[in-house]
Amino acid sequence: MTNSNQKYGRTDYCGTLGEKDKGREVVLCGWVSKMRDLGGLIFVDLRDREGIIQCVFDESIHKELFQIAFTVRAEYVLRITGTVRERAAKNPKIPTGTIEILADGLTILTKSETPPFEISDEIDVNDQLRLKYRYLDLRRTSLQDSLKLRHKITQAARNYFDQQGFLEIETPMLTKSTPEGARDYLVPSRVHPGKFYALPQSPQQYKQILMIAGVDRYMQVVRCFRDEDLRADRQPEFTQIDLEMSFVDVDDVIAVNEGFLKYVFKEILSMEIELPLPRLTWREAMDRFGSDKPDLRFGLEIKDISDIVKNCGFKVFSGAVEACGTVRLITVPGGASKFTRKEIDALSEFVKTYRAKGLAWYRMAEETTSSFAKFMTPDEITAIVNRAGAENGDLILIIGDNDELTALTALGSLRCEIAKRLGLIKQGDYKLLWVTEFPLLEYNEEEHRYVAIHHPFTAPNDEDIELLKTDPGRVRSKAYDIVLNGTELGGGSIRIHDRDLQTEVFGALGFSEEEAKNRFGHLLEAFKYGAPPHGGLAYGLDRLCMLLSNRDSIRDVIAFPKVQNASELMTSCPDEVDDKQLKELCIKVEILEKIN
Ligand code: AMO
Repeated sequence: MTNSNQKYGRTDYCGTLGEKDKGREVVLCGWVSKMRDLGGLIFVDLRDREGIIQCVFDESIHKELFQIAFTVRAEYVLRITGTVRERAAKNPKIPTGTIEILADGLTILTKSETPPFEISDEIDVNDQLRLKYRYLDLRRTSLQDSLKLRHKITQAARNYFDQQGFLEIETPMLTKSTPEGARDYLVPSRVHPGKFYALPQSPQQYKQILMIAGVDRYMQVVRCFRDEDLRADRQPEFTQIDLEMSFVDVDDVIAVNEGFLKYVFKEILSMEIELPLPRLTWREAMDRFGSDKPDLRFGLEIKDISDIVKNCGFKVFSGAVEACGTVRLITVPGGASKFTRKEIDALSEFVKTYRAKGLAWYRMAEETTSSFAKFMTPDEITAIVNRAGAENGDLILIIGDNDELTALTALGSLRCEIAKRLGLIKQGDYKLLWVTEFPLLEYNEEEHRYVAIHHPFTAPNDEDIELLKTDPGRVRSKAYDIVLNGTELGGGSIRIHDRDLQTEVFGALGFSEEEAKNRFGHLLEAFKYGAPPHGGLAYGLDRLCMLLSNRDSIRDVIAFPKVQNASELMTSCPDEVDDKQLKELCIKVEILEKIN
C-alpha cells in the first residue's frame, strides 16, 4: 500500500502482516477487536478489512502510551504505530498469529459505545439484531470475505465477457410496467400525475432492443426488482449478470456461458470444470429427478412403474394409472435399517406438503415389510423390485398420483430430503448442468389462460410451432436454465425475432391485439425494422456468490439485504413519507382492506 495519506499515514493492513515484516516500523488503523490488561502489559487486537493483529503496550517502555491504551474499549477506532516483532505465545488460529506489534504510538481516532453484540464469527446472535446493526455485522471476517468474493466474481464476469466482445451497457431503472411473472415495484411520476414507472424485473426488453440496435453482444451487472415472496435464494432486489447475443442459437449461447463458468470456477475456486456440461431436457429432468433444477450430487433417481402396476389390486396405484396419472418410485440403498416405521410415516407427511396423497413403501430387511405388498401378486412385486434395482437392505418409496407432475415433484423433493438426512451431499462438490427444452407455456387455473413459463419473448422449438394453435401446453421452447447443486443459477432462451410469431404467442397467452399493443407495442414496433436472430441468459449473481462461498442464503452475500417481509431493518424501510412529498406527486393514500 502506498503511504499517500499523510494525516493517517497507514502503511499496511493489519491482516497482511507476516513473518516477512519482522523488524519493520508500521502504521496501522483499525477497530479494537479485544483489549486485555495483563498488568504492566496491555494487548489490543486491532482489526481491519484484511484481518487482526495483536498490538502490545508495555508500561515499562512507554508509560504514557500505556495509560492511553488503558482507556480503549471494544470497537474504538485507533491509529497505532510500532515495530513488528516475533510473538512469544503464538496463536495458530489467526494468520498473523506468529507476530505482534510493539506499539510506540497510539491515537484514539473515534470512541465507540459498547456494541449491542460482540463482533466475532464464533458467537450466535439473533438475525434481527445483526441486520439492524448491519455495519457492525459486516465487520465480521466471514462477511468481509463474502463482500470480497462477490467483488471478485463480478470482476471475473466483467473480464470474461469483455474478452468475448460483450459491451456493458446500462439500461433504465425507471421503466414501463409490463407485469408478467412477479409483481412490479412502482414509482409514481411527479410530472405525470397518476402515472407510474416500474422498476425493472429484468432488462429483458431493453436488451432485445439493443440487439435490434445492432449492439451484437451486450452484458450488464444489473439490479432487478421483483415484488415476490422471499426465500433463502430470493430477495426483492437482487443482481443479475445479464447478457444477450445476436445471430446465435441455443448451442452458441451455451458455449459462451460454459466458457464463463469454467473461467469463474478457475478464478474463484481454482477448480477445473469439465466441458461440455451435462444437458438434460426438461422432460428427462422431471422424469429422472422430479425437478427442473436437479441436484446431481447424489443418485436416488426416480423410476416409472406405471406399466407394472396398471392392473394391480392396489387401487392407489392402478387407479392413478387409469386416471392418466403415474406411479413412480425411488430406492434408498440401505434404507431399510436407516428409516423406522415412524420415520417413514414422517416422510409420508413430508410428501403431503407437496400435494402427494401419501407414500407407499417396501422395506427389504431380513423380514420384508410393506404398506402395499399384500394387494400385489409375487410377479408384480418382483417386477417392481427389479425396476427399482433394489437389493436386500434397501427401502423403496412409491408415489402414485392422478397428476403426473404432482407425483414427480413430490418424489423429487423427497429425494433431496433423504439425501440431506442421510448425509449423501459432499461439501465442496459442484455439479453443474443445463436443463433445456422447457415447455413454452403452462395453464394457469386462476387466470384461466396460458402463461409463459420463462417469459413471453422465448422462441418455441421450430418443430412445435404448429402446436401453438392446437395444443399450446405441449409446445417445447428454446429456453435453458443453468443449474448448480439443485439451485437455478441462471436462465435464458433464444428469443422470437419475428413479429408475426411474437403476435401469435401473445395471442396464445390470451392477450388481445389491443392489450399486446399497449404492453409490448414498442417491441412489436421495433421488430418491424429488422430484428436479428438473438438470445441470451441472466445469472443470479447473488446465487452464484452464495453457492461458490458455500452459504445457505443469499442474504450472506448481499451487503444490505431485506428480511422476510421485504423490509430493511437498518434504515426501517419501507416507510411512510411526508404529506408534502405526496402532494407533489398528487397522491392521496387510502389503505384499502387487503384482499389476500
Ligand atoms: P429469470 O427470471 O430466470 O430470467 O432470472 C434469471 C436469474 O436471476 C436470478 N433470480 C433471483 N435471484 C434472487 N432473487 C430473486 N428474486 C430472483 N429472481 C431471479 C436467478 C435466475 O436464474 N430476463 C430473463 C433472463 C433471460 O431470458 O435472458 C430473466 O430475468 O438466478
